[in-house]
Amino acid sequence: MQAVSVKGLNKTFGSGKNEVKALKDVSLDIAEGEIIGLLGPNGAGKTTFISILTGLLEKDNGSVNVLGLDLDKDLEKIKGGIGVVSGFSMVSIDLTVTEFLRFFGMLYGVKNLEKRIVEVMKLVGIFERKDEISKDLSSGFKQRLVIAKSLLNSPKVLFLDEPTVGLDVEIAVKVRELILELKKQGTTILLTSHNLYEVEQLCDRIALINEGKIIALGTIKDIKGMLRLSTKIIVVCDDAKKASSFIAKMKEIRKIEMKGNTLHIELEGRDTRKILNALIDAKVGLESFSLVEPSLEDAFIQLVKKR
Ligand SMILES: Nc1ncnc2c1ncn2[C@@H]1O[C@H](COP(=O)(O)OP(=O)(O)O)[C@@H](O)[C@H]1O
Ligand SMILES: [Mg+2]
Repeated sequence: MQAVSVKGLNKTFGSGKNEVKALKDVSLDIAEGEIIGLLGPNGAGKTTFISILTGLLEKDNGSVNVLGLDLDKDLEKIKGGIGVVSGFSMVSIDLTVTEFLRFFGMLYGVKNLEKRIVEVMKLVGIFERKDEISKDLSSGFKQRLVIAKSLLNSPKVLFLDEPTVGLDVEIAVKVRELILELKKQGTTILLTSHNLYEVEQLCDRIALINEGKIIALGTIKDIKGMLRLSTKIIVVCDDAKKASSFIAKMKEIRKIEMKGNTLHIELEGRDTRKILNALIDAKVGLESFSLVEPSLEDAFIQLVKKR
């Protein structure tokens, strides 16, 4: 069974001149235990997507199935099986960490609440702060507290909307470790991000979203492979000028830039061996020849540009 299955989802805000099509015919399946990243620039539709799936916002049309339940019929049941963390939530409550979790736990009707509170506090690494006032915590601990709250009902599917936005780098690292830990425990996770590095690190698959449409879906390797991304080579040699003029006319070369003794070469395709052989034929003293793999960022920029 898929943990989440979305088909033909549409959402429009406003009307007439102010109409914004936030989601256009979006379909997406998420397997049980998978971490999938929804990656896209600001305004792409990420938050709208998560808000609809978690019942915060109504869809125009399309079907949404979470944990085998139809959103239109069983929203309350779905809510019992999912957790949501939306953005960097401001915690400005005068309750201690334990009291904060107890408050929401009672609201959600969590069974064996006191035991579960200790479990989630330990899981997110906030147990040592259990008696501190929530609003006085550092931003990193506030984010952990919000994640702890989302875990109270032992959710099978977790929705994380920009879980590290606004956090210091080292705190973001800790939150990412926590996300991987939750995956290890079998939680299915949909996270949104505009941070390529983050999704590359965490996700089994990514969906690139732009202007309300999913424009690519697959593993990072798949997505890079879908595009004819240029391979880059960096060559250091004793006579860059000679080397450059020797290979410049080859059909495999897209672009050459010379910086002192270094050549930055952009290739058409991936036949690096041919270039290396040509440079050897040119009899320039080669000091190094290195390949730069295309990044996900290159892929994303190219995909967005294409449209
Ligand atoms: N409540 C709303 N009313 C009107 N327009 C909205 C509303 N929420 C989002 N939008 C618009 O929908 C589009 C998608 O927004 P959003 O889902 O927040 O994008 P993201 O989370 O990817 O940055 C944007 O153009 C945004 O301005
Ligand atoms: Mg958003």
